[in-house]
Amino acid sequence: MSKELNIGLVGFGCVGSGLYEVLNKSKLIDATIKKIVVQDPYKERSISKTNFSFDINDILADDEINTVVELINDSDEAYKIVKKALESGKDVVSANKKLIAEHLDELIFIAAKNNASFLYEGAVAGSIPIIRNLEEYYNNDSLTSIEGIVNGTTNYILTKSNDGVDYDTALKEAQKLGFAELDPTLDVDGFDSKYKLVLLLKHAFGLNVAPEEVQNIGIRNVTKYEIAYANEKGYRIKLFSKAEKIGDNVVGFVAPHFVKKDHFAFGVDNEFNALVVEALFSDKQLFIGKGAGSYPTASAVLSDISALKFEYKYEYRKTSEDSQLSFTNDFFLKVYIGSPFVEAINQIPFYRVDELFQSDDYAYQTGWVKFSELEDYNLNHRKEISLVILPEPFKGSESLFSGKLERHRVALEV
Ligand SMILES: NC(=O)c1ccc[n+]([C@@H]2O[C@H](COP(=O)([O-])OP(=O)(O)OC[C@H]3O[C@@H](n4cnc5c(N)ncnc54)[C@H](OP(=O)(O)O)[C@@H]3O)[C@@H](O)[C@H]2O)c1
Repeated sequence: MSKELNIGLVGFGCVGSGLYEVLNKSKLIDATIKKIVVQDPYKERSISKTNFSFDINDILADDEINTVVELINDSDEAYKIVKKALESGKDVVSANKKLIAEHLDELIFIAAKNNASFLYEGAVAGSIPIIRNLEEYYNNDSLTSIEGIVNGTTNYILTKSNDGVDYDTALKEAQKLGFAELDPTLDVDGFDSKYKLVLLLKHAFGLNVAPEEVQNIGIRNVTKYEIAYANEKGYRIKLFSKAEKIGDNVVGFVAPHFVKKDHFAFGVDNEFNALVVEALFSDKQLFIGKGAGSYPTASAVLSDISALKFEYKYEYRKTSEDSQLSFTNDFFLKVYIGSPFVEAINQIPFYRVDELFQSDDYAYQTGWVKFSELEDYNLNHRKEISLVILPEPFKGSESLFSGKLERHRVALEV
């Protein structure tokens, strides 16, 4: 028998109002929104103001409400709400990747202790059902990699940049369309993609990785020169969240990548997201869909609500199965580093240099760097340095290079 759901909805913005509509339009799910809590009593609403309350305790202290759907844009407040709801044994659905990535273990523990369910399909890649697939479909297969575009805003900006639109205009358009996070740095500096990657690392590899352990390099510094380089080589630039098993280690990071025409992500444009999951037996599978926006995200939230009717809980089976795996940033990869200042490029230690270019106003160098060493250069905050990963497989250890490895510093003439 399915459980009767009485929902307390927190947040009625892009996703919350979308959920209200899709829940009312869907004839398949029988669930009632009993209360809606928002913040601003003076805001115009698309439905009668009598539906709203402004005190979260109207939901948390209501014993008839057994399901809290948290869709607010403040992750600190969201954490408090989700925690209290789970502590009182209410099931929770959330789409807030920052809150979940930062507190996942604690929230899993509280949920289990109170026999509550905590679901968050909408937090990763919008409408793409990736978490549930990792939990259910791939639970008996050993995954080797998961990678893709999981942020609609940056994909939208990169698509527009490719068409010649400048960065600020493209960002404003994405915000107007409701894709962008309240704080755009979360999107453009790769934090949002990183929080999602932390959740993927948990469900795909059973790893508990804190967001601070994962390096994120965003797209803020991708300039017309990187776009020109991409066009010249027949590449496109895409921001990837990437996790890959190398031996008993898993590497994971977020960074812009050049992708070739035959790559699955080449034609994935605008707010679309796409992920490829590679597993030992099932090989590669591609998931593609709208990664942001009101209805697409609401559809993932709706799917969680529907799962709650059958008392569905994530089992986190990979956590015990793959527990011998560890997370590392120690690997080599081939990068393009560009800058108007040659001195800036020369600061980055290269282990092998493949290509050098210098003109009056720009220079770039391609070659192999050790990923863990990039952290020292704080690339998101160095406006003068652009890094894009080149399409070459990673190398897991120094022995994979022939000959002795040496760091090169001075490569271009100043
Ligand atoms: N937008 C997307 O495409 C998308 C995609 C995936 C995941 N998400 C996630 O979904 C969540 C909601 O995003 P959104 O785009 O719908 O945000 P939004 O449009 O900015 O709406 C936020 C809503 O939260 C309410 N709110 C903020 N603080 C509150 C508080 N302390 N108590 C009660 N209500 C509060 C706001 O109230 P008022 O209406 O009174 O201002 C508003 O209704 C976020 O975690 C976001 O990361 C969004």
